[in-house]
Amino acid sequence: MAYEVQGVVARGKGAPVGIETIVVPDPGPGEAVVDVQACGVCHTDLHYREGGINDDFPFLLGHEAAGLVSAIGEGVTNVAVGDYVILNWRAVCGECRACRRGELQYCFNTHNAAQKMTLKDGTELTPALGIGAFAEKTLVHSGQCTKVDPAAPPTAAGLLGCGVMAGVGAAINTGAVRRGESVAVFGCGGVGDAAIAGARLAGATTIIAVDISDRKLEWARGMGATHTVNSAETDAVEAIKALTGGFGVDVAIDAVGHPKVFEQAFYARDLAGRVVMVGVPTPGMTIELPAIEIFGRGGAIKSSWYGDCLPSRDFPMLIDLYLQGRFDLDAFVSETIGLGEVEQAFEKMHKGEVLRSVVVF
Ligand SMILES: NC(=O)c1ccc[n+]([C@@H]2O[C@H](COP(=O)([O-])OP(=O)(O)OC[C@H]3O[C@@H](n4cnc5c(N)ncnc54)[C@H](O)[C@@H]3O)[C@@H](O)[C@H]2O)c1
Ligand SMILES: [Zn+2]
Ligand SMILES: [Zn+2]
Repeated sequence: MAYEVQGVVARGKGAPVGIETIVVPDPGPGEAVVDVQACGVCHTDLHYREGGINDDFPFLLGHEAAGLVSAIGEGVTNVAVGDYVILNWRAVCGECRACRRGELQYCFNTHNAAQKMTLKDGTELTPALGIGAFAEKTLVHSGQCTKVDPAAPPTAAGLLGCGVMAGVGAAINTGAVRRGESVAVFGCGGVGDAAIAGARLAGATTIIAVDISDRKLEWARGMGATHTVNSAETDAVEAIKALTGGFGVDVAIDAVGHPKVFEQAFYARDLAGRVVMVGVPTPGMTIELPAIEIFGRGGAIKSSWYGDCLPSRDFPMLIDLYLQGRFDLDAFVSETIGLGEVEQAFEKMHKGEVLRSVVVF
């Protein structure tokens, strides 16, 4: 028996999103249905609505969520009905080239549900990042469900499902920030602030937040930034060098996804430093850099898929730190909203008024 529930659908490029009735099939082999309890609004949802990811409209948006497993399909053993889970969008296959060599965080063949959720007229929906959690129920692959301690409320836990994990992971996994290092984070939204919090967790001693909004910079201080730079007013590269003895930082993280910002991150590094791209560029963007600068500066240029996380390893660890009061997930939640307020949340995100708006059910 399929379920009919309400979900937030983006019908076409740039068109405002709206609530529609969607049809969620019973879980097939390897699938699970999850009753969503909370789902954060991520900039990637807005990228989808603006046609910046692909053209597979209509999209069922939402992908940063926690909830309860309400049904499982044949052969599912990793979760049971009633389990409290965070949804992840990189369920590793265990069999591809990356998985076989032990680099599961790079899995090239991650799993999603095989069946499609649809509109009432049968139109197939494309769930954002294979999740689609701005809906009362969603269908996922069981591997997309990661069990965590139910003591953590869903508004906080769900954030690990995307932006916060991406940011923390960009710092601790991809950037491999070590004790005593210096880090600059460009863009202090949910992802960038999480990178700042991650750098603090890893023991960085200089953490420079860069944004074009003073309000965002003030919040970034609360997350652990030791210095702030407003790059709309100051040359960010010069300011970062001035704060690091003229050398630049050990790790520079672009959490915006814009060529100009990446370029700043590239030049704000010390010799042999790491630059991490976690912000997502749109398909038409290009970056031009003098080849001699790439060679001469050394170090590493890395992109960070989902913070190079392993959900099974990293979600429970970060939930533990949260429950011990060492990692403040609640600080990312600017407001809780209803399912009908996602379009307004995009507007607030665009104006820089929120870190995360979280839909609660
Ligand atoms: N790699 C991944 O796995 C992953 C996961 C989630 C999100 N993302 C991407 O990360 C990026 C950030 O997401 P978010 O949810 O934090 O978005 P957000 O809109 O909340 O934050 C973006 C921040 O960047 C700032 N900004 C904009 N232009 C800037 C500039 N030129 N210089 C400095 N700061 C600037 C904004 O003021 C804002 O504070 C997006 O591109 C999103 O798609 C990537
Ligand atoms: Zn794999
Ligand atoms: Zn996201």
